Amino acid sequence: MAETGAAVTTVLLWILTLTECQDTPITCLFSEACVLPCSFRRSGEEVIHWQTLAGQVITVHSYYYGNDQLKHQNGTYKGRTSLFKDLISHGNASLLLRNTSIQDQGRYKCYTSTTLGNQESFVSLRVEAPIKSVSMERTSEGVTCMSQGIYPSPRVSWSTDPPTPSGTLQDSSQPTADAQGLFSVNSTVRMLGNLSDHAYVCSVSKEDGTGEWRASFRQQEDIHGEVGQTLAIPCPVPKPSLFTQTWTFMGQTPPILTHNSATSHQDISDLWKNRVQDLLETGSLLIQDPEGQNLTGTYTCKVSADRTLQLVQTYVSFTGADKHSGSDTRLPAAVAVPVVIIALLMIVLLIVACKKGWLRGSKCQNGQNDENRHREAGGDERMPLSSMNGGRGVGTETGGQNDEQPVNSNNGGVGT
Ligand SMILES: *[C@@H]1O[C@H](CO)[C@@H](O)[C@H](O)[C@H]1NC(C)=O
Ligand SMILES: *[C@@H]1O[C@H](CO)[C@@H](O)[C@H](O)[C@H]1NC(C)=O
Ligand SMILES: *[C@@H]1O[C@H](CO)[C@@H](O)[C@H](O)[C@H]1NC(C)=O
Ligand SMILES: *[C@@H]1O[C@H](CO)[C@@H](O)[C@H](O)[C@H]1NC(C)=O
Ligand SMILES: *[C@@H]1O[C@H](CO)[C@@H](O)[C@H](O)[C@H]1NC(C)=O
Ligand SMILES: *[C@@H]1O[C@H](CO)[C@@H](O)[C@H](O)[C@H]1NC(C)=O
Repeated sequence: MAETGAAVTTVLLWILTLTECQDTPITCLFSEACVLPCSFRRSGEEVIHWQTLAGQVITVHSYYYGNDQLKHQNGTYKGRTSLFKDLISHGNASLLLRNTSIQDQGRYKCYTSTTLGNQESFVSLRVEAPIKSVSMERTSEGVTCMSQGIYPSPRVSWSTDPPTPSGTLQDSSQPTADAQGLFSVNSTVRMLGNLSDHAYVCSVSKEDGTGEWRASFRQQEDIHGEVGQTLAIPCPVPKPSLFTQTWTFMGQTPPILTHNSATSHQDISDLWKNRVQDLLETGSLLIQDPEGQNLTGTYTCKVSADRTLQLVQTYVSFTGADKHSGSDTRLPAAVAVPVVIIALLMIVLLIVACKKGWLRGSKCQNGQNDENRHREAGGDERMPLSSMNGGRGVGTETGGQNDEQPVNSNNGGVGT
């Protein structure tokens, strides 16, 4: 009987020792305060030492003779620690650590001594800086996804909608750490082929794939508007129940309009007050009575909601400004007539060349067909096209040319 009793006691003691030796895991949010728990058998004459054990023993906080004793406290903890004084006599030696840093991570020992004897317990502290936002922009190199102040290092991945085979998108960089140990993401992928063919989706998550944030970018088809006619620029993204929507023009600040679905609050910048009044139900931007060239450019719709950001860019050009003005028709006519003449000359030349080709036989004919094909690919085909416009109506000729120019400047200038 006595032997079994002794055995049970031994086992109990062993379990007690195990429990006491087991580290209590604590996760703290970066720069915030957290409590490192420690309790002991209450009694008088408490001595408390909080230490950390990274190679050497570093004093975090000490307490005896009824007071904090901070003479030996390591400088990195200065002004950031305190005990719950009222609770010490109740056996609570928990430590409050404020403004936690990545360097605070590690194993902490809570040593207590009273008239009843000594106790030790351990806390293993992890510090986390969760993803707080993800931003995205179109740059000259492609689409860039950015996020800052994350710990531990996040996982970044890219995809497209519709999907492309994995490996098609070349993600350029790994997260980098700053002096505080926090990671930043700055990852760029190149655009594939046609701008409007794909949405580019960047996903930033914890190492284990949880806590995902997403940002996506899509360039939609160009829109052509007429001066004087109200134009709706759509923003084709699914709208969650709570979101903020922002419309910007050519990266200008302040934005044209911001809309908060939770408060129904809408802000329109002074510059746009007489052009823009309201969003449509669908989130489309209405440009009222557009009057000229300075409204031509890239419009960006940004919808941000819980952990998602969606960007849609649209290139909009306005034409037809000079249609009704009599005096302006003279200049285009002066341009159009020579263009028609030159085009006619070229057609005549082509016919002559063709005829010569027929005379020289089939070999030469093949060669000429190839040449024509090259010309089309090179864009020379536009010549006859614009001269046709010029012939039909004088006003549309300039319109036709304006159609071409902004498309080019669009390709180069969206990122700026
Ligand atoms: C304080 O702790 C840091 C590590 O956290 C150590 O490098 C430094 O030497 C310590 N300072 C003193 C005075 O012990
Ligand atoms: C000790 O006090 C702190 C601060 O009130 C509290 O967070 C902690 O849970 C207490 N610990 C115990 C074991 O009661
Ligand atoms: C928190 O600590 C950092 C250094 O780690 C310091 O720069 C910052 O001022 C501190 N913040 C507060 C509120 O004390
Ligand atoms: C991202 O990296 C590029 C160069 O790789 C740099 O030009 C750009 O400023 C960085 N952006 C941010 C927000 O750090
Ligand atoms: C881009 O898309 C348009 C229409 O979808 C198509 O006509 C054009 O050939 C495409 N260009 C390239 C380079 O894929
Ligand atoms: C466009 O130009 C007109 C006058 O020429 C000016 O009143 C308006 O503010 C401009 N709009 C923008 C968006 O710059």
